[in-house]
Amino acid sequence: MLRAARPDRTARRAGASGSGPRTVGPVSATDQLAARLRQRKDRVATRIHTVADARRLARRRVPKPVWDYLEGGAGTERTVRANIAEVEAVTFRPRIGRSGPFGPDLSTTVLGQAVSMPMLVSPIGFTRMMDPRGDVAGAAAAAAADTVFTLSSMSGHTLAEVCDAAGRAPWFQLYFLGGRPGAEQLVERARRAGCPALVVTLDTQTPGNRERDLRLGLSPPLQVNPTTARRMAPHALAHPWWLADLVADRFSLDLVHSLGLRVDGRELNAGESLMHWLGNPATFEDFGWIREQFGGPVVAKGVITGDDARRAVDHGAAAVVVSNHGGRQLDPLPATMPALVEVLDAVGDEVEVYVDGGFRRGADVVKAVALGARAAMVGRAWAYGLAAAGEPGVGRVLRILRDDIDRTMRLLGVSSLAELDPTMVTRPGG
Ligand SMILES: Cc1cc2nc3c(=O)[nH]c(=O)nc-3n(C[C@H](O)[C@H](O)[C@H](O)COP(=O)(O)O)c2cc1C
Repeated sequence: MLRAARPDRTARRAGASGSGPRTVGPVSATDQLAARLRQRKDRVATRIHTVADARRLARRRVPKPVWDYLEGGAGTERTVRANIAEVEAVTFRPRIGRSGPFGPDLSTTVLGQAVSMPMLVSPIGFTRMMDPRGDVAGAAAAAAADTVFTLSSMSGHTLAEVCDAAGRAPWFQLYFLGGRPGAEQLVERARRAGCPALVVTLDTQTPGNRERDLRLGLSPPLQVNPTTARRMAPHALAHPWWLADLVADRFSLDLVHSLGLRVDGRELNAGESLMHWLGNPATFEDFGWIREQFGGPVVAKGVITGDDARRAVDHGAAAVVVSNHGGRQLDPLPATMPALVEVLDAVGDEVEVYVDGGFRRGADVVKAVALGARAAMVGRAWAYGLAAAGEPGVGRVLRILRDDIDRTMRLLGVSSLAELDPTMVTRPGG
């Protein structure tokens, strides 16, 4: 149960002994609360030993509308389940009895960028309502793990905040907020921030049919207004730690990338930016101007068939992400593991292919790489860590996944990613 804020113990000890860093002036009640919340997250993170643990703790910490947004899928949620089932169904064919490699090399490159492991972080929208540090936490944890973080257009944090926290620029995931003119401004912001790649999500012509959101009458963007407050109240009060975080963050729920976009000489508000986007979602025909303006690699996300992968590459995509949006858009769709094989057949020799959807273990990542993916990406896995325990939670999840990739490679008898190939896995159906 959340108690009234008490002075941070470290600050009190330092004050009592007269040594250590001194606090200049009174510590505000909000700072004290933030310090207590941070300590609690550190403690909760130590209870995460698997992604499933993070999921359980996240479900406990956030209110139902937030949980439903994070966990839910479209329609029957068959695609969500299929992603996980198809990843799990792949089994290994190890090479035993070889000299055991000590410390396999997990490092690789993605679009020329060195990363410490073949696992990247997928873009997740509205993370600031899961934890006040949202994408700042995700980006900092990904930088600490030395891997790529992809910042969603639907973030509550600016590119500058994310770059500052991580000490490096993220990949930027582009939705056409504000339509084509707004998208041009977002591409320019990403270019100026030094983002190494732009990820264009192509499967979101309209929001998917997320029936969980309909039942409670609450879906992001959550707004501070009387209707939302009345509907949220019973859920929020039952999750005091989450509520305290929101208070300490002063209810900062704005979608910052949708703000400040100018169309027809006028600045759009967030609602208008979203309406312009849904009226003009990205198409393959946009890849030409995006590439030209951005000047760096453009990645097509949401590819689920070999035909569309071909089209993406023909339109200049430097890489594709095989993805069904974690089962949150069109439902049912093929699970991403079989789709990965189809896409690799179509374009695997020409561009890097990444895959996301249902990856919950390091061993899952190794399966995808063995099949031919350059890297796998995790969506809900990192968001569970965030929702369970903020930045320490994300760090913990990424470390657990990394350790499992390492362990799996040792047990397979390979010392580098280059040694993984399709003969080392079996998929149902061949
Ligand atoms: C809560 C949530 C929000 C998401 N928001 C975005 C987004 O803003 N942009 C995007 O391209 N994909 C978004 N995705 C899809 C993820 O990038 C990724 O494709 C998906 O989560 C992978 O499946 P997994 O969650 O099973 O790992 C979102 C997914 C979730 C679960």
